[in-house]
Amino acid sequence: MDHLLLFFLVAHLLIIIFLSKPFVILASESTNKSEVDRQALLDFRQGITDPLGVLRSWRKDSLDFCSWRGVTCGKALPLRVISLELNSLGLAGQLSSSLANLTSITRLDLGNNSFSGPIPATLFSASSQLVFVDLEVNLFSGRIPDFPRMSTLRILRLAENSLSGKIPASLGNVSSLTEIFMYSNSLGGSIPETLSQIQNLSFLSLSENNLVGHVPAQLYNISSLVALA
Ligand SMILES: *[C@@H]1O[C@H](CO)[C@@H](O)[C@H](O)[C@H]1NC(C)=O
Ligand SMILES: *[C@@H]1O[C@H](CO)[C@@H](O)[C@H](O)[C@H]1NC(C)=O
Ligand SMILES: *[C@@H]1O[C@H](CO)[C@@H](O)[C@H](O)[C@H]1NC(C)=O
Ligand SMILES: *[C@@H]1O[C@H](CO)[C@@H](O)[C@H](O)[C@H]1NC(C)=O
Ligand SMILES: *[C@@H]1O[C@H](CO)[C@@H](O)[C@H](O)[C@H]1NC(C)=O
Ligand SMILES: *[C@@H]1O[C@H](CO)[C@@H](O)[C@H](O)[C@H]1NC(C)=O
Repeated sequence: MDHLLLFFLVAHLLIIIFLSKPFVILASESTNKSEVDRQALLDFRQGITDPLGVLRSWRKDSLDFCSWRGVTCGKALPLRVISLELNSLGLAGQLSSSLANLTSITRLDLGNNSFSGPIPATLFSASSQLVFVDLEVNLFSGRIPDFPRMSTLRILRLAENSLSGKIPASLGNVSSLTEIFMYSNSLGGSIPETLSQIQNLSFLSLSENNLVGHVPAQLYNISSLVALA
């Protein structure tokens, strides 16, 4: 067999291997987690405006999203976003539901900006690693989304927005909470009794809303509660 024939045979075989189904499935299954995070950040960037030009480092053609302003990545590979901190930067616009694709994020601080529209319902998921969420002092409106069982979220700051509707009873599913701030919104209805399931709750601030009814007696049974305002 001469070399040329061998070359063609091998090349042919390689093409067959590349085109065969198992290979294609394998390739699409090996999702690049970093690329998912980069895309989620770009989706978020796409939906907001940045009048002060503070997000200049967030370039579409930049692969190194870990160095973008406000983004912190963990040490494990592939690199994942663990924190997004963009407090007090004059940012506006609506939050992309793609934020939920940042499945390793523990800290989300978007406080004191001009973000508006709804809080994406996908933000709080059972598999979320979120520990700290600050969306305070913005223009968020609509209802607070439902909460699945979550066991990491400790601090939830939603105060000083235009949130309406009831405080979801499902908030009681977030057993890890220690601080809840929802004052100064347009929340109605009564305080859900389910909040008394949150054993380690120490701050609960719901003032300056349109709440009706009594503070559920069970709430006074939370031994860790030091402030109720
Ligand atoms: C994964 O995505 C990152 C960021 O886009 C890129 O730098 C890296 O080369 C990709 N890795 C693989 C194996 O595709
Ligand atoms: C809120 O952000 C503005 C800039 O947009 C800043 O001047 C102000 O000090 C911030 N307030 C707080 C409490 O951080
Ligand atoms: C990212 O989020 C969007 C919107 O929630 C979703 O449609 C998409 O499938 C997600 N992408 C990946 C790669 O997970
Ligand atoms: C969350 O709480 C609500 C109301 O308290 C309950 O109906 C629902 O089943 C809970 N969801 C999960 C996922 O535990
Ligand atoms: C409440 O706090 C204690 C002591 O810090 C901790 O061991 C426990 O896991 C906490 N409970 C919940 C539901 O997070
Ligand atoms: C508060 O706790 C005490 C002792 O565990 C119990 O007897 C009482 O019924 C509880 N009160 C409410 C309103 O849950």
